[in-house]
Amino acid sequence: MPVIECKDCKECMLRRDGICPVPGEGDLDANVMFVGRDPGETENRFGRPFVGASGKFLREEIELNFAKKDIFITNMVKCHTMNNMGPLEDQILSCFKILESEITSVLPNVIVALGKTVSDYLISNPNYIYNVDIRKKQMFDINGKEFEVNILGYDFIVIPMYHPSPRNFDKYELIRNGIREISETYGTNAGTNEKEIERNEEIEEEGKNSME
Ligand code: URA
Repeated sequence: MPVIECKDCKECMLRRDGICPVPGEGDLDANVMFVGRDPGETENRFGRPFVGASGKFLREEIELNFAKKDIFITNMVKCHTMNNMGPLEDQILSCFKILESEITSVLPNVIVALGKTVSDYLISNPNYIYNVDIRKKQMFDINGKEFEVNILGYDFIVIPMYHPSPRNFDKYELIRNGIREISETYGTNAGTNEKEIERNEEIEEEGKNSME
């Protein structure tokens, strides 16, 4: 369920014929919020974030490591950009209000910033209180590290992570490990996951039955 409906937004030039704004989705009490840059073509078609090629990998890893109630998934900019060019600064700034409303409604403990652009805007944003300027750093310096940021009066941990795009296939192992580590620290199942719990319960049950 979207926290903030954006289908009627016409704030910038990204909104045009055939473009469907994609709101964030997930649990409104999520501990962890994943933020991508902007929806791709598939997301534009379905009106949901991360349901294309990048989303397949991201969602599989999230599902393996987190309970559904831990997670909210969204994008910094809600509209698909022409030829995947990426949003311009004024488009990012006007759309940021929607992301900020999502962040301050859900109030996650951790925000995972997918890719360098999202990391820069969430961690070293002149409108926020932060203590590290990451804008001149490379992704390999900041991937998986925790940064404290005060966004509109609320404290968050923001963790940059390589974007799960197939173009970053060589980073998939790093992304996988990063998601697992975040779930071990911030997931409600702390170090395990629902499938593992189910499997352990089955093993325990089988053990009891064989003793009877
Ligand atoms: N890439 C993004 O950053 N967001 C999406 O929703 C899909 C691909």
